[in-house]
Amino acid sequence: MKDFLIVANIKNNLLVKDIITYLEQIKEYDGNNLVICPPSIYIPYFLKNKFDVGIQNVCHEICTGEILPIQASDMGIKYTIVGHSDRRILLNESEIDINKKVQDSVNNGLKVILCVGETLEEKSMMKTTRVLNRQLQSGLRNVKNFENIIIAYEPIWAIGTGKTPNNQDIKDAVTYIKEVVSSISGYNDIHVIYGGSVDLENIELLKKIPNLNGVLVGKSSLDADKLIELTKK
Ligand code: PGA
Repeated sequence: MKDFLIVANIKNNLLVKDIITYLEQIKEYDGNNLVICPPSIYIPYFLKNKFDVGIQNVCHEICTGEILPIQASDMGIKYTIVGHSDRRILLNESEIDINKKVQDSVNNGLKVILCVGETLEEKSMMKTTRVLNRQLQSGLRNVKNFENIIIAYEPIWAIGTGKTPNNQDIKDAVTYIKEVVSSISGYNDIHVIYGGSVDLENIELLKKIPNLNGVLVGKSSLDADKLIELTKK
């Protein structure tokens, strides 16, 4: 892997006026390790820049209000997030749907960032590995092209809370995820990133985790200057 990857998940934040300022600031960015995932409607503003662009969700079926992976590819979008916990929880996205999205996305040339992670209750019941195993087995069923898969380990209790697991727990989860993916696919070079309250205060510590390939950043990516700082730390 080239550099430590920074994926910005803007969710459904920002308006056109904010995006104009954001893009003005992000012009400063001069690396090769940044993916920005804006709200779908604003994606055209973000294309043709030095960073890569991702979409936050795709749909594998013809459906009102949705976007197919082939359409995302057609627009020059390189990545898609699949199975973010916002969608698993708020929109009841099923593991079957997540798997279909993963398959259709890689088959249509997108790199998939598949999100997995446990709730606080599951963590306190020591079920983290069981949950990760289930989400990986179901999410990656019948997937072929593992070079185009990135796994995002996002403990649900760390998202938007200011809390993060300690480095050892992240390292252990990343090791476990890499082992499971290897056992499913025989592919031994899967990239795993961490998400959940990543900010300027903890990025340097997170970068010390030896088997971690990057981070997925929500709130701290809403300020373009902060995001550029994150890529440089
Ligand atoms: P956060 O969000 O960085 O605001 O915790 C991460 C995410 O939802 O992917």
